[in-house]
Parts: sequence; structure tokens; C-alpha cells
Amino acid sequence: MSIADLRREYSLTGLRKADLAGDPLQQFRHWFDQALAAGTNEPNAMVLATADAAGKPSTRVVLLKALDERGFVFFTNYESRKARELAVNRHAALNFFWVELERQVCVTGSVTQVPREEAEAIYNKYHAGGVPTEKEYLVFQDYIFRSLIAQAGPLHLEVHIHSAVGSGNYYHLSEGNAMDLENILRDPRYKDTIFVMIHGGFPYTAQSIWLAALPNVYLDSSEFNTLIYPAQYSRILKEWFEIFPEKIVFGSDCFPYSREVGVPETYWLAVQTGRTAAAAALAEMVSEGEINEERAMEIARDYLHDNTARLFGIETLSKH
Ligand SMILES: Cc1cc2nc3c(=O)[nH]c(=O)nc-3n(C[C@H](O)[C@H](O)[C@H](O)COP(=O)(O)O)c2cc1C
Repeated sequence: MSIADLRREYSLTGLRKADLAGDPLQQFRHWFDQALAAGTNEPNAMVLATADAAGKPSTRVVLLKALDERGFVFFTNYESRKARELAVNRHAALNFFWVELERQVCVTGSVTQVPREEAEAIYNKYHAGGVPTEKEYLVFQDYIFRSLIAQAGPLHLEVHIHSAVGSGNYYHLSEGNAMDLENILRDPRYKDTIFVMIHGGFPYTAQSIWLAALPNVYLDSSEFNTLIYPAQYSRILKEWFEIFPEKIVFGSDCFPYSREVGVPETYWLAVQTGRTAAAAALAEMVSEGEINEERAMEIARDYLHDNTARLFGIETLSKH
């Protein structure tokens, strides 16, 4: 029998536009479930086609390990031919063939490394010693940061982010703007995570207050007492009180700076300065007719205590 005579009619099912889901991944899931239910052999085996830099193609079978909104996930050795080809040419194609269902699914797209896999490879390379490159360090840190904030939401753990620029040549002022975090704070994957921006994004405080427009973002005014005089502290608080007073929390940042200026002294300074600055800001708002005294007292209590109590689920003090 010649190979050409090996032929069979495929008539099990048809393909009608009206039966197709609008989303190709949803459609794939449906067909994949059918392949599982039909007991097909290796339903998650797929042919992966890659090409080298010159466009010369190669194929092999790999297993589908996951499917999510990012696409189709497979695992492979980074030293393999496919990995080397993907490193120079991200374009690839997949083919699933479920013979029992008389169905094939063709997929084309570009391949990126899954962050966890990348981070794991870096961890395995250095956990016993050695110094990661800057790129490796960034990839690893990015993965750890995103994993932590994703887990913090369901666990009801607030994430505190140090958002003031640091001092010394190590830091660049232009890279210290808390607005750079907007993509993270707005990311729907972290919508259940509460973020507290420690030091209120100083000195970009006028911009940072707009981050508090996001329901899960709060600003903390700690360290203002040691960084600036009460007059400037009060100007910042006034701006914040005028915009999102319910999203601002007092913080002391008390710290044992020296034998003479320890935790009690810095705590005292923070409370004194914070109260002085808040009183000055609120007095101005009252005198300018923005709010009445009753509202000023309410904002003061919220800032110095109740916003924090609500945020961390601590019982609020009596208002008397
Ligand atoms: C059923 C089946 C499943 C396979 N699954 C994988 C897989 O998930 N990942 C993988 O790297 N190789 C898998 N292989 C081996 C690959 O087909 C291939 O031989 C190997 O990865 C080297 O490919 P390359 O040199 O073209 O990169 C599988 C092979 C078979 C037959």
C-alpha cells in the first residue's frame, strides 16, 4: 500500500462560525475539555514550531502546562535548540492534533519567558553564591515584589512602600517619583491589596496625593517632622486635607538616631510637629471659609488617629 493510499474521510464534526466563542482562548478551553472528555491520547501534547534568526524552522512536541490570559505555557530547558532559537526570534507556532476528535488547533504568537521560571533560574544560579548581573537582579526583584503584593491582598496585609527619595549619590531624585508606581497601584491583579505610601512620596507630595484617588492607596506623613519645618509640613497637609483627607495617615518614623535623640525624643518631636502642622493647615482652611471648625476637628481626628484605626481595623477611640 502506498502512503498516498492512506486516506480517510473526516466527517465527525463540522466547524460553524455560529458555534464559535468570541474569545479564542475560551474556544480553545472548550475544545481542550472535549479532548479530555474523549480520552484522547496525550491531549496536552502540542507541536511547537520555532525558527532561527535566518527564519529556518524547526519543530518538536512539548506539553501544555498551563493556559491563562497570558496564553499557552510550556516548560523547557533554556539550553535547548528551541530556547536558543526563541532567544533570537520570539515568533512561534503551536499545533494540537486530537486525532480521535478529527480536530487540530493552530496557534501563532510570540513567546516570552514566564516570570516565575526566569526568577527560579536566577535563584538556582546564585543561591549558593555569586553576584547576579543588574538585569538578573531586576528580574528577580520584580518577580518577588509582584508575588508579595499579590499574596498580601487575600491575606489582608497592608503593603507599605517607602516612597520618599533617599539622600546620597546612590539615589536619583528624578527616579524617586511615587507616580512611577501608578501602573502597579492600578493593576487589577492587586486591586485587593492596600498600599500605604510611607513618607507620602516626598518631595513629590503634590503629585502623590492624586495616587490616593485610587481606593486602595493611602499616604503616610511620617518623617516630615525630621525632614522639614512645621510651616512646610503644614502647607503639604493643607493640600492633602483639601483633596483626600480620608486617605492620609499620621506616622512618626521614630528612630534611635543617637544616645541623646532616641525613640522617645523622635516620637515626641513627630507628635508635636504633626499636631502643630495639622492645626496650622486646618486653621487656614477655616479662615479661608473652606470648612467649619467642626469639620476641622473631624479631619484632625481622622489624620491623627481614625484613618489609621479604620485602615488597620483597630477600634476607634471615643470622639469625646
Ligand atoms: C509526548 C512528548 C512530550 C514532550 N514534552 C516536552 C516538554 O514539555 N518540554 C520539552 O522541553 N521537551 C519535551 N519533549 C521533548 C521534545 O520533543 C524535544 O525532543 C526536546 O525538548 C528537544 O527539543 P529541541 O532540541 O528542538 O529544543 C516531549 C516529547 C514528547 C514525545
